[in-house]
Formats: sequence, C-alpha cells, structure tokens
Amino acid sequence: MGQRSAGDYPDERLLGTLEQLLALDATNLHDALDHVTQLVAEAMGADKVDVFLLEPTSSTLVARGTSDTPMGQLQKATGMDKLPIVNGGRTVAVFQTGAPFMTGHADQDPAELIGITQGLGVRSILAVALPLHGKGRGVLVVVSATPERFTERDLHFLEAISSWIGLVAHRAELVEHIAHEALEEGRRRGAEELIAVVAHDLRNYLTPLKTRLELIQLRAKRQERPADMVDARAATQVVNRLTQVISNVLDATRLDQGLFVLRPQVVDVVALARATAESLATSQNPIEVRAPDEVEALVDPDRIRQALENLLANALQHSPEQAPVRVDIEGAAASGGSDRADHIVIMVRDQGPGIALDALPHLFDRFISGPNSAGLGLGLYLARQIAIAHGGNLTVESLPGKGSRFHLSLPVSLPQEPTVSQRTDSEQATVLE
Ligand SMILES: Nc1ncnc2c1ncn2[C@@H]1O[C@H](COP(=O)(O)OP(=O)(O)OP(=O)(O)O)[C@@H](O)[C@H]1O
Ligand SMILES: [Mg+2]
Repeated sequence: MGQRSAGDYPDERLLGTLEQLLALDATNLHDALDHVTQLVAEAMGADKVDVFLLEPTSSTLVARGTSDTPMGQLQKATGMDKLPIVNGGRTVAVFQTGAPFMTGHADQDPAELIGITQGLGVRSILAVALPLHGKGRGVLVVVSATPERFTERDLHFLEAISSWIGLVAHRAELVEHIAHEALEEGRRRGAEELIAVVAHDLRNYLTPLKTRLELIQLRAKRQERPADMVDARAATQVVNRLTQVISNVLDATRLDQGLFVLRPQVVDVVALARATAESLATSQNPIEVRAPDEVEALVDPDRIRQALENLLANALQHSPEQAPVRVDIEGAAASGGSDRADHIVIMVRDQGPGIALDALPHLFDRFISGPNSAGLGLGLYLARQIAIAHGGNLTVESLPGKGSRFHLSLPVSLPQEPTVSQRTDSEQATVLE
C-alpha cells in the first residue's frame, strides 16, 4: 500500500471501484462494510480505511468495517477501533459537524488523538460523513502513514464513495431486518402449532381430574371434613383456570383458521353471569353481581361464559385483597328506539391499579400481556373476538390507580347481517370467517 504519488490514479479505477461497490452482495451489514473498506483502501492506496458507526448506548463511534491492512489490524489490537464521543478527535468532529476533514500532517494537529498519530503512526487523513437513512450517522475515514498523501480530488472521490456506502449499508440493513423478521415469523408459527397440539392433549387429561376433585369435594362434605372441602374447591378452581387457558389457546388457533364456531341459543345472561362469578370468586376476592332478575338474549352460552371468565380472572388477579370485583348488567335501548332493550351491557370493574395509558392501544391484541402477568396474553383478545362474533364489542376504561372497567356489550338477538356467516346445520352454528 502507499506506493503511488498523490492523486495519480486514473478515472477508470474510480469507476471500477464504484462498479464493484454496487455489485456487493449486501446481505450482511458487517461483511458488506468490510468489503467496502477493502475496496476503497485498494483504490486509493491507503494504509487503513474505516467505516465508523455510532453505538448510541455507549455514545461511541465503533469501526463496523475496517480494511484488512497491517494498520487496520494494529488498530483492532490496540482498541483504537472504538472512539468515545467524549474523547473528541477529528473523526468525532466530522461525525458531529458533518463537515469533511483533510490533513497531510496529523502529527502537528493538536485536535487529533495521540493514539491515532503516535499509536498508529497516521500522518494523512481524509474523513467524510456517511449518510445513513439520510442522517449523518457514520464517518468514512481513509488514512496513510505518509505525510501529504491525499489531495482535494481524493476528497471528492471519497464523498462520492460515501454516498454509495450509505446506500449499500441501507440495503444491507433492510436485508438483515427482513431475514430477522422471517426467522421470527417461522419460530412463532412453529411455537403456535406446538402449543395448539399440547393444549389439545392437556385438555383430555383435565376432564377426569375435575371429576375426581368433585368426588373428593362431595365425600368431604358427606363426612364433614371442612378443611378438605376448602382444599378440593381451591384445587377445582385451579383446574378451571387451566381449562380456560387451554380453551383460549385452542380458540386463538381456530380464529386463525376461520373455524371459530358460535352455537347461539336463548340464554338468561344474568343467571349465566352469576354462575360464572360464583365459580371464580374466592374468600379473599368476592364478586358482587348487580343485575335485574333476568335478561334474555340469543347468545352462545359457552362463549359468553369464556369471555366473562377471562374478564373476571383478570379483574381478580389485579384486585387488592378484600376489594370486591363488581359485575353490573343492564339492558340498553338503541338511541331513538323503542323501550325494549336491544343491547345488554355487562360491566366488569375492579379496584386494582388500572391499565397504563400507553398499554391501551394494543391491549386487545394477541399475545400482549403486562410485565407481571404469567398468562399468554390471549384472554382479552378472545373476549373481544367473542363479543364481535355476537355483533357486540368489548371496550375498556382505565382509571390509573383506581381500577379498570370493561364493558362487554351484546345485542339481544344476533345481527341480521352478521359479521359471521350462518351455518344451516341442526346445531345452528355460526362460523366466524
Ligand atoms: N383488570 C385489569 N387490571 C389491570 N391490568 C389488566 C386487567 N386486565 C388486563 N390487564 C392487563 O392486560 C394484559 C392482557 O390481558 P389478557 O387477559 O389478554 O392476558 P393475560 O391475563 O396476561 O394472559 P391470559 O389471559 O392469556 O392468561 C394483562 O397481562 C394485564 O397486564
Ligand atoms: Mg387474562
């Protein structure tokens, strides 16, 4: 390296370098930058070429690509491939100002780092800002141990090269990003399939377990063993919760595949809500239901129970001890309509911490759960999908520090032109597409 005199390389050589830059296989940013620096070092006869990029967490410019030259190797060995912004120096100045820099006597420049002039023996420097995504986020530095090595013409050449590197780096970043996303998506699908299969098998084991627990509870009652009754009831609740988690997983898969089925019938929603609340309430956290004697609606009772279970399980989980969860049920008429209620609103409210405002936009998405949750983040997603399948909706009001309030609204009869397609078999099932 460094055998020619300043500025004596022909234009074809520059053109050739640019052509090779464009032909680079930019599938990996690190490899692409190493190639680029090597090409530039050869084209300019430099002792070292670096692409420095900012590492924001440590506020340091890090050489992400360096020519494989003796000075490049020495730089790595001495740790000069990392330049903390606070230490200053010419490379940092170019990064901060965006203005190019050129010198033929770095050793006489008090603003340059000693590690560069004395440690690496650098005399001539050309440095230009590297535009990445249109922002000056890096610096391209070409150096030589020979004084007065570079000319203004070299600087122009380097500026052209820096634009190309910006493009190559951007392309490589995009390719890396796409490859990463594809890998994640593949993993997610694999994990979801596995979970669905395991969930299905687990459910088969839970039914006999539940039956056994009910028998134990009955026997304990007959033989007047209250402690055993309490334990058996607690164990039943755990099994119920597990059954609910498994149902959620299976239903999320069914929704994905368009196989989510509704089996509507006329149901007293108040009785359904009371029974659901009773099965979930504990002595630490009671559930109070306030409702008219009876409110009938055409709904799928299993699905509405599932939606309520998810809402109540969340409310209980986030309630302080002895703070009851409230369920209010009301019939509501559409504005301007008749006196008869055409909607039911089931409100579930707790006195827990509420939900952070920034969590609200994605609260009903799949697999979204809070930092303290041991769940899968499916409960609210399914509860809302169930509401929508009935032609209703699920919304939330959060009062941070005071509690959360979920509104599950359901039409009394299924929609005339539903968001679901009716199946005309004997069970009158409705399939969500
Ligand atoms: N009543 C509530 N009070 C406070 N935070 C809540 C409440 N309900 C839900 N959340 C927050 O919303 C997140 C999502 O709830 P969701 O029911 O979808 O999932 P999960 O409870 O984490 O898991 P899963 O229900 O699948 O077992 C919860 O992790 C929690 O952070
Ligand atoms: Mg939940």
